[in-house]
Amino acid sequence: MEEIIKLSPADGLAGTVNIPGDKSISHRSVMLAGLADTPVKVTNFLHAADCRSTIGCMRALGVTVEQDAAGVLDITGRGFYGLSEPYDVLDAGNSGTTMRLLTGLLGAQPFFSVMTGDASLRKRPMARVITPLAKMGLNIKGREESRYAPLAITPAEQVHGIEYDMPVASAQVKSAILLAALYANSPTIITEPLPSRDHTERMFETFGIPVKRIGSSISIEPVKKLTAPELINIPGDISSAAFWLVAASIIPNSQLTLVNVGINPTRTGILDVLKQMGADITITNERWSGCEPVADIVVRSAQLKGIAIGAEIIPRLIDEIPVLAVAALFAEGRTVVQGAEELRVKETDRLRAVALELGKMGAEITETPDGLIIEGPQKLNAAVCHSHDDHRMAMALAIAGTASQGVEIEEPDCVKISYPDFYAVLAGLRRD
Ligand code: S3P
Repeated sequence: MEEIIKLSPADGLAGTVNIPGDKSISHRSVMLAGLADTPVKVTNFLHAADCRSTIGCMRALGVTVEQDAAGVLDITGRGFYGLSEPYDVLDAGNSGTTMRLLTGLLGAQPFFSVMTGDASLRKRPMARVITPLAKMGLNIKGREESRYAPLAITPAEQVHGIEYDMPVASAQVKSAILLAALYANSPTIITEPLPSRDHTERMFETFGIPVKRIGSSISIEPVKKLTAPELINIPGDISSAAFWLVAASIIPNSQLTLVNVGINPTRTGILDVLKQMGADITITNERWSGCEPVADIVVRSAQLKGIAIGAEIIPRLIDEIPVLAVAALFAEGRTVVQGAEELRVKETDRLRAVALELGKMGAEITETPDGLIIEGPQKLNAAVCHSHDDHRMAMALAIAGTASQGVEIEEPDCVKISYPDFYAVLAGLRRD
């Protein structure tokens, strides 16, 4: 793909978007199917770089993953005790979910493994998974006193269940512990400071593993085998739909229908916030896709207003803050985001990147240690902006430029991480 992409202003967006498969659920489907002893078909799998990293790692552990012409996966697992020692270093690429979840799974296996990732992933904190996993008896070492990848994992003498109060709300940390807990010799109880996405818990239920939820705690008993479903249909990713929700809201003369959007309540903070900002959003055709709720969503242009986004909702919209910042620039009044310091340890420091790159378009955004302050509405100018090689930054910048005077984005092809067709879909929705 190009080194730079140029997007011009649009007079409106119209059409229907089939939302690509959920990234979080796609990862989990391959990991769990890899531990099953009967084959699993996965439809609407997200064929994007992050999920390909998980497929690559699971293949290296002996799992067969085949893909047909329509993109349907056929996964033949190795059974609960059947993974084999990889011949080489496992590469998680840019994917935090691949690295953190597999750390929990691999630490409970009776073999040696090493995991690494790209330059961004090697800078992201890993002690948050290594600390609780070490309490369970797992042996994981990493660079700089086990703070960063590469990670070297050696077999545990015994895997113990733990009671763990998580210091940060993180589905990746929770899921790493849950995966290791399956192999433990006693139950595990995890308590979250705020509810994070619960796709692992729901995927466990899909594979016949009971999960108990009591208040903010989750408890799980060790198992000996999984009972796999024949088919998993992955819902569309609300984090990908978020770009269209904001784009159609802020570009006058727009109406979009978003088909097959996952509306798991641990992910729908973006809908709550946009509605509170005055967005015209209608949720229709609610249904189930396995253990996950899905719906179609109609969104039309609306004048938004600024709001306060506080710490308690952040885990439910953690990946949507960059595009919400764009929405706030078009809203009347002040938007304040607080309690979002986790954004500083994503694919890039997203608080810094949002302020810096939208700033190049003339936006005045105040960056605080844990959030952003944005007074709207603001007039944006055409500019050359950098994606920081972060998929969600590139897509947020694309929406900001399309809704204003245009934008040129350097390093645009990082959208391949979660939404490979993003620019093509955007081009097809323009009314001009
Ligand atoms: C994810 C959890 C979130 C999210 C990430 C995907 C997952 O990260 O930001 O994009 O699949 O569990 P944290 O668990 O670090 O908050």
